[in-house]
Amino acid sequence: MSINIAIANQKGGVGKTTTVIDLAASLSALKKKVLVIDLDQSGNLTTYVDADTSMPNIYNVLNADTPISQSLQKIGKYSFIASSKELSKAERQFVDYDDIFLLKDVIDTVGDDYDFVIIDNGPSRSILLTMSYVAADYIIAPTDCDDGSIDGIREVYADLTEIRSKKRPISNAKLLGILLTKYERTIMHQEAEISIEEIAENTEDKPFVMTIRKAITASESKSARESMQEYQHDSNPAIDYRAVAKKIIKKTGGK
Ligand SMILES: Nc1ncnc2c1ncn2[C@@H]1O[C@H](COP(=O)(O)OP(=O)(O)OP(=O)(O)O)[C@@H](O)[C@H]1O
Ligand SMILES: [Mg+2]
Repeated sequence: MSINIAIANQKGGVGKTTTVIDLAASLSALKKKVLVIDLDQSGNLTTYVDADTSMPNIYNVLNADTPISQSLQKIGKYSFIASSKELSKAERQFVDYDDIFLLKDVIDTVGDDYDFVIIDNGPSRSILLTMSYVAADYIIAPTDCDDGSIDGIREVYADLTEIRSKKRPISNAKLLGILLTKYERTIMHQEAEISIEEIAENTEDKPFVMTIRKAITASESKSARESMQEYQHDSNPAIDYRAVAKKIIKKTGGK
């Protein structure tokens, strides 16, 4: 069965989508079979990887209009399921208790075909995020190094603790790692790193804390519709994401 990882933080612009793209590229370069799902209605990831938006998407799959097999497309070395603006209907449409298992159920049907499934999430506390948590074995939370960074991580952890501690837990997802993105060696960023490491140390999950250095490559590569691994393999963030991919494999015991 695949190891399912949701990339999550309710704060916007913290590097979730960038993390998904570069981890997918890094893990597949390490010969891992990877499926990426864009569960953010904004479709940023779908745009960045230049996916075919005429194909069936994750909304169609969740809505049971289309089998997951028909929504799979190839991006570089990995498989991809595109987002859709129709995901904005999710909050009104998926209102039954059972609906929170929809994503998990569809991933389970193809789980044997992949080593890792990586899910990108939008910056809000939505039914889609809950579906992600339910489908996930692990969460990776990217964060900025600013004043709000600690709150964002605390929110993710509080959500996880809540869903794990229900009488009938709906997920056992663990916080696997925290990534301090756009990292620079300034006093402020170093202080943020120390605070986040303290939080990590004080949780049951003991997530790893790693830094992804800031570089213009991040935006340039998106304009070029490439991961940083392809666009500039020796750029600092590309190097850092490769280290994270190796850490993920080590910590999850990935196949
Ligand atoms: N290591 C980095 N160095 C410099 N810029 C970065 C880095 N990582 C991400 N960025 C930039 O930060 C911005 C936000 O990144 P990204 O879109 O990945 O965040 P997000 O969390 O997915 O945002 P949203 O919450 O809107 O989905 C982008 O312009 C991206 O290019
Ligand atoms: Mg995003």
